[in-house]
Amino acid sequence: MQKKIKLSPVIAGCMKWGTWGARYSTSQYLQLIEDCLAAGITTFDHADIYGDYTVEEEFGTALKEQPSLRGQMQLISKCGIRRFTPNRPAHRINSYDTSKAHILASAENSLRLFHTDHLDVLLIHRPDPLMHPDEIAEAFTQLERSGKVLSFGVSNFTPSQVRMIHSRFPVAYNQIEVSVLHPAPFHDGQLDQCIELGITPMAWSPLASGKLHNTEPTEQQLRILAVLDLLGKKYKATHDQLLLAYLRTHPSGILPVVGTTKMERLRSAWDTRELKLEREEWFMIWRAAAGHEVP
Ligand SMILES: NC(=O)c1ccc[n+]([C@@H]2O[C@H](COP(=O)([O-])OP(=O)(O)OC[C@H]3O[C@@H](n4cnc5c(N)ncnc54)[C@H](OP(=O)(O)O)[C@@H]3O)[C@@H](O)[C@H]2O)c1
Repeated sequence: MQKKIKLSPVIAGCMKWGTWGARYSTSQYLQLIEDCLAAGITTFDHADIYGDYTVEEEFGTALKEQPSLRGQMQLISKCGIRRFTPNRPAHRINSYDTSKAHILASAENSLRLFHTDHLDVLLIHRPDPLMHPDEIAEAFTQLERSGKVLSFGVSNFTPSQVRMIHSRFPVAYNQIEVSVLHPAPFHDGQLDQCIELGITPMAWSPLASGKLHNTEPTEQQLRILAVLDLLGKKYKATHDQLLLAYLRTHPSGILPVVGTTKMERLRSAWDTRELKLEREEWFMIWRAAAGHEVP
């Protein structure tokens, strides 16, 4: 039986809050956290490696200044990637580690950095070719029994990899890349499996990492932008709001992990948190992305 907790319908992705993006100060972290919570965005997505192992600590430093905030939020973290970075001199190359010892040590470290006694969700960040489900299940079981982690899942796992883990420990979440520019999960079984097994999908890069807006548009992107303009008039919605509505219209219940570092964009994502598209409108976006009609 999967244990799930209530996550907010828009999740704030923290990957770019630190050195990989906005380089926010502690007071800016605090402000963004408080603004998110005030708006209703209560779930924050992290990973041990973000900012080369610095974002969890920076976020935790902000939480330490206002300890009452922790109880108002859900914290997601991920583990299993070992990055080659000066911040981890012992790592000689980028690699994966889903051993029991690594999962337990990574979770403990996240708890220490966040100044908290539990994580709400822990995900295995990437499928590790050397993983064994018994070992992952043992680590998850130990973390669950000790109350250090409340619910568990995976990220970027194919359907067969999810099945393998699920055969030993119930997988509650699969966080995958899915967006108008990355539609593979609509067709490759990842989202079908979420419906089949009752797994909650989370979408990373749901706004296609801003590629529709901050790069010279390709032919494909021009087609997508034209449809977004058309639908924007009907719904009085921005492109970003429509890109999230596109995901929300899928029946698997996708939760977007929105990576903007700007509160106005997060608030705008929140404002249309219930917006869904009509079927033909969904297929207009799909067709613009695919460059052809459905077969
Ligand atoms: N599980 C995994 O393997 C994995 C991998 C990658 C990411 N993630 C998670 O997913 C989250 C989101 O990822 P993401 O940042 O790639 O996703 P995203 O939400 O698709 O894109 C956010 C990026 O797009 C820019 N952007 C959005 N709307 C824009 C607009 N209208 N005009 C110009 N720029 C715009 C943002 O810039 P501004 O900041 O300036 O708004 C930001 O850099 C991350 O924070 C992380 O938590 C998970």
